Amino acid sequence: MNNTKNVVVLASGGGTNLQALIDAEHRGELGCGKISCVIASKADAYALTRAKENGIKTRTLIRKDYNDVELYSQDMLKLLIEEKADIIVYAGFMTILGECVCDAYPNKMVNVHPALIPSFCGKGYYGLRVHEEALKKGVKVSGATVHFVTAECDAGPIILQKAVEVLDGDTPETLQRRIMEQAEWKLLPKAVQLLCDEKIVVENGKTYIK
Ligand code: GAR
Repeated sequence: MNNTKNVVVLASGGGTNLQALIDAEHRGELGCGKISCVIASKADAYALTRAKENGIKTRTLIRKDYNDVELYSQDMLKLLIEEKADIIVYAGFMTILGECVCDAYPNKMVNVHPALIPSFCGKGYYGLRVHEEALKKGVKVSGATVHFVTAECDAGPIILQKAVEVLDGDTPETLQRRIMEQAEWKLLPKAVQLLCDEKIVVENGKTYIK
């Protein structure tokens, strides 16, 4: 029996989290998962280059070509169906897709967020903005969270979290980098492996690892 799961990765930018997934797959650490396609929301997303360099199929669905997120979501759903996606990973993907996508893939879509949810999350908290707000508040630890995607931004069941120290003198960029290195690039492949190997149970909005 072929248990391989098609992992479709959605990205908007540099794609370092995609790279962490590619590296994990090369090391044999994605379980039954195989990155089958990368879909970018921007034509110049460096994530596309990373995918091509690794022989992974790429597609683009340009967010700024759409006024309406619902239409964008419907077209994204068509692509995901065409690509026979089993698992969908938001790896620095900056669009909140509508309910049509969330309903089609319940507990099959994960997102990495660069803070300890429920801190510094929700609409408007993305990329460097998250770290700017954390530094403004003066928190002593921040970190990363991998969670299931639901229609409500950053509110789905939490799968994995890791805390990372904030240091005096941090800039949004230095904090972002430390959180990526110490947390995101480790948590995201681990969560995808657990999901592909059907090791995550969701009950009453919480996850449990089998
Ligand atoms: C990462 O820090 C990711 O957690 C964040 O954007 C960055 C993308 O980097 N995502 C969000 O803020 C989503 N709300 P990458 O393109 O190098 O993976």
